[in-house]
Amino acid sequence: MLTFRCKIPRTTHRPLSHHLTTTTTTTTSPPPPQDAIAVLVLTTDPKTLTTTLEAHPVQWTPELVTGVFKRLWNHGPKALQFFDALDYHRAYAHSASAFDHAVDIAARLRRYHTVWALLARMRARRLGPTPKTFAIVAERYAAAGKPDRAVRIFLSMHHHGCSQDLKSFNTILDVLCKSKRVEKAYSLLKVFRGRFRADTISYNIIANGFCLINRTPRALEVLREMVERGLEPSLTTYNILLKGFFRTGQIKEGWDFFLQMKRRKCEIDVVTYTTVVHGFGVAGEVKRARKVFDEMIGMGVLPSVATYNALIQVLCKKDSVENAIVVFEEMLRKGYVPNSTTYNVVIRGLCHAGNMDEAMEYISRMKDDKCEPNVQTYNLLIRYHCDAGEIDKALEVFEKMGSGECLPNLDTYNVLISSMFVRKKSDDLLVAGKLLIEMVDRGFLPRKFTFNRVLNGLLLTGNQGFAKEILRLQSKCGRLPSQFRL
Ligand SMILES: *[C@@H]1O[C@H](CO)[C@@H](O)[C@H](O)[C@H]1NC(C)=O
Repeated sequence: MLTFRCKIPRTTHRPLSHHLTTTTTTTTSPPPPQDAIAVLVLTTDPKTLTTTLEAHPVQWTPELVTGVFKRLWNHGPKALQFFDALDYHRAYAHSASAFDHAVDIAARLRRYHTVWALLARMRARRLGPTPKTFAIVAERYAAAGKPDRAVRIFLSMHHHGCSQDLKSFNTILDVLCKSKRVEKAYSLLKVFRGRFRADTISYNIIANGFCLINRTPRALEVLREMVERGLEPSLTTYNILLKGFFRTGQIKEGWDFFLQMKRRKCEIDVVTYTTVVHGFGVAGEVKRARKVFDEMIGMGVLPSVATYNALIQVLCKKDSVENAIVVFEEMLRKGYVPNSTTYNVVIRGLCHAGNMDEAMEYISRMKDDKCEPNVQTYNLLIRYHCDAGEIDKALEVFEKMGSGECLPNLDTYNVLISSMFVRKKSDDLLVAGKLLIEMVDRGFLPRKFTFNRVLNGLLLTGNQGFAKEILRLQSKCGRLPSQFRL
């Protein structure tokens, strides 16, 4: 077992009063400018987009541009068109953060030529590329199954005018760990720990990486090594391990570890408590989860929104949605501001309990609360309708999203396409095919399985022509099944 040497200063807790002093406005304001611009981009021919944007009466600011990017996030090609069109604007020049967004989207679309061209443009304009830019690119390469490219990018940063340091080293370790390449990250740490003076954070990242793949014993080894090298574990270190135990269902080990943390006078924080509340809850130990939640308040550690979200989620899943709502209301009474995650957890619980009317009520409450429903909110409604066999209602929700209010994401398409096989109607398969084409158009890469399923469905229902079109698309995406040749 590790020795505990906690010397973390007690932090002062955030006052809640500011939530109570904000006045609520009841006037309905016009839609924010980024919504109108997003719709404009979605409906304008890219060839005339620059002219259209020049003529649009708005004061362009980096914040507005970021807002538009957020709206267009799930339509990558359109988002890049927007970036390019605005780049030609006579009176506006893109900020470094706009470049980072564009780089992120281009990398997600696997348009690597565009990525490198953007990096060159950033450098020419002396906007970067910054360590953040490289972190984005490396993360996308790792997520696309190219961890070696990610490492090479880190090692070549200085050729692009951005030198490596401990922080960027830790970032590449984290990128590798988050894409489950912890062994690669660990090797990299061993090679370069001297050069970059690897610190507690470096080791925490590796330990967390092992926990993410449920290898808690390896995480412990890494931390032992860290101590041997003279580095002090931090509270974060212990929180990582604690989470690791609960993740793998080692409730007893987790609890013992927590008790040991307390005994050794660690200044246990809100993250520690949230981990234990969530861990017990997921294991179905709702009473113990609640007890720890009550204890933290008694100990003078204020729960955060994350703690409430954890408890509410656990109650929805392992207890009852009614009890979850009691906690939700208590949270409001205490002056906390729930975010869309909180609302989504409650709405999902209500949907699960078959209480659709109340779920819809919470969606309007969400809007009144200036906490707009997000793509997860829409997805859970669609999933609910699909599970209930109400495919038309699911499609109705989907139509609403398409208007630009909240563009569908990969999950939306996957859920809807699967539901098109439920009714065994030939028309549904045509819809599935159209959805597949649309998702590729918007820069999502369907799985091979999805392609094959739609393809087979179309062939079985006598839609050979459409099937051929899908096959061509599949070939273009590089997801061709091995038995097919064009
Ligand atoms: C809501 O708050 C929690 C806790 O701070 C955070 O983890 C989560 O990402 C937030 N959700 C959204 C949609 O911002």
